[in-house]
Amino acid sequence: MLDIKDLKAGYRGIQALKGVSLSVAEGEMVAIIGANGAGKSTLLNCLSAIVPAGSGRILFDGQDITGWSAHQVARAGLLQVPEGRQVLADMTVRENLQLGALARGPRAAFYELDKVLTLFPILAERMTQLAGTLSGGQQQMLAIGRALMGSPRVLLLDEPSLGLSPLLTQQVFQALTQLHSEGLTIVLVEQNAHRALASTQRAYVLERGAIVQQGPSKVLQNDPAIIEHYLGSGQG
Ligand SMILES: Nc1ncnc2c1ncn2[C@@H]1O[C@H](COP(=O)(O)OP(=O)(O)O)[C@@H](O)[C@H]1O
Ligand SMILES: [Mg+2]
Repeated sequence: MLDIKDLKAGYRGIQALKGVSLSVAEGEMVAIIGANGAGKSTLLNCLSAIVPAGSGRILFDGQDITGWSAHQVARAGLLQVPEGRQVLADMTVRENLQLGALARGPRAAFYELDKVLTLFPILAERMTQLAGTLSGGQQQMLAIGRALMGSPRVLLLDEPSLGLSPLLTQQVFQALTQLHSEGLTIVLVEQNAHRALASTQRAYVLERGAIVQQGPSKVLQNDPAIIEHYLGSGQG
């Protein structure tokens, strides 16, 4: 579904991705874990064309989408839930969700409003509330709901647990697990390696712009180096 080959990208003077290759099959839920500054957001932002790829190739469902605009990529069904949620604070929950549907373009809708509201019942109660007045956890649910309204073929999530209480983190991950069980392809970027490895089948470890480890999440969970660097006490 997603095939990334030797992707390099950066910012003025900083090479944030130093040749990343990874692939995600249809229906998989894959984690990308790594410390702050490892390049996780840059990787997702390259996929959604918010940051231009310097070199390398991004194949989406067999099609080379390298160099496509963010709009084109979203229309094709590669949709990101950005870090920090970025809901439109001065618009209502309903309006945020309606805007999400625009990304779908002419593709068939497989996540209608009622399905999103069944997944996140709290949003149904808050439809007329301004998004900026929601709690962080509710905003995260809205951000995911908004992306679902665009009927993603692959859902990219950047640190969905960031700043959330353990209870809300659990609720968000439950929703993601349910979406995956319904067949959605999910790429999850997380500093919270505990959660990410517990909820995915396969994972990649990104360090300073390079993939240094990959494998089944269960195997990585028991890898001494991963435990030492990512699963030690106080890591989530
Ligand atoms: N907009 C930007 N301008 C300049 N440097 C950036 C920008 N965004 C990220 N970086 C740098 O790129 C590297 C990777 O950052 P990022 O992709 O945000 O990592 P992560 O999401 O894993 O924390 C870091 O060194 C960071 O400081
Ligand atoms: Mg980040």
